[in-house]
Amino acid sequence: MKALVLAGGTGSRLRPFTHTGAKQLLPVANRPVLFYALDSLVAAGIREVGVVVGSHGREIRELAGDGAEFGLRITYLQQSRPLGLAHAVRIARDFLGDDDFLLYLGDNYLPQGVTDFVRLAAADAAAARLLLTPVADPSAFGVAEVDAEGNVLRLEEKPDTPRSALALIGVYAFSPAVHEAVRAIAPSARGELEITHAVQWMVDQGLCVRAETTTRPWRDTGSAEDMLEVNRHVLDGLEGRIEGKVDAHSTLIGRVRVAEGAVVRGSRVVGPVVIGAGAVVSNSSVGPYTSIGEDCRVEDSAVEYSVLLRGAQVEGASRIEASLIGRGAVVGPAPRLPQAHRLVIGDHSKVYLTP
Ligand code: G1P
Repeated sequence: MKALVLAGGTGSRLRPFTHTGAKQLLPVANRPVLFYALDSLVAAGIREVGVVVGSHGREIRELAGDGAEFGLRITYLQQSRPLGLAHAVRIARDFLGDDDFLLYLGDNYLPQGVTDFVRLAAADAAAARLLLTPVADPSAFGVAEVDAEGNVLRLEEKPDTPRSALALIGVYAFSPAVHEAVRAIAPSARGELEITHAVQWMVDQGLCVRAETTTRPWRDTGSAEDMLEVNRHVLDGLEGRIEGKVDAHSTLIGRVRVAEGAVVRGSRVVGPVVIGAGAVVSNSSVGPYTSIGEDCRVEDSAVEYSVLLRGAQVEGASRIEASLIGRGAVVGPAPRLPQAHRLVIGDHSKVYLTP
């Protein structure tokens, strides 16, 4: 089985981060979220992967390379514009050939991986197989109606009035029958070729479309809030390791990773926390659940449940929490406002104000 990983898209919900970088490269515990997807493909026994990239393709190619580092062979496929998930399958036609394949949306994070799903897809042939999970806000997702045997009856993309609470997780297993489906559909109201519509077309043709429902954690890292939650989840499994320098005036509590070349001075770090190479943390309190990217500076500040991207600087911030701070961004103290005095003073009084 091959895999097709989608790493194009505009990431509009994660602007302004996605103006300058691919959302699939946003770091989780200082590693691009896309890398966790690639790891899970390897764990499921997949070796041949097509990665569909858009305007940030160069950056993705530079970081993921030919895939050897992961134990994969990666072929990059350029999508000229984000015209939808089914469009990405269309342009991957030659790469996919007549093989079964796993479609994986590169911004989805599944801590349990895809091994069980891939095993099931290989054992129980279907034209398409979907992974579903119950969610509180189904209208933000593709939604499926499924019968008691796990056959998919109907699909809708982000319906106003969802007919079930089962959202499509961004992982699908397809037989080559999907190629006819992605050619048969027309763009949706948002101007995209929706994979949901292609699968509905397969249902309408009487093809076997099956669904697996999982209640295990899953996140589509589409928003800053999701990114922070995924970061928390990954940090929960972190092993502490000190490779950088921690001075005698610092206290580290719990699982803390200080990468080589990072410096912690006069600070208190409560894990789980990861501090990237070249970062400097001084006279501060960091954690829990915080990732400090490479070459960041945190000085005279308190940072909790946050992610700082590479080169971000936080200085003199009494307390930062639940924050995602972009590459090279600077957070510093505002100039002190002139203090105002409000006075009711009797006649002939003398008042001395300190400057
Ligand atoms: C896409 C799919 C949707 C699915 C979601 C999962 O939505 O169209 O059916 O539920 O991914 O992440 P998008 O993120 O493109 O809006």
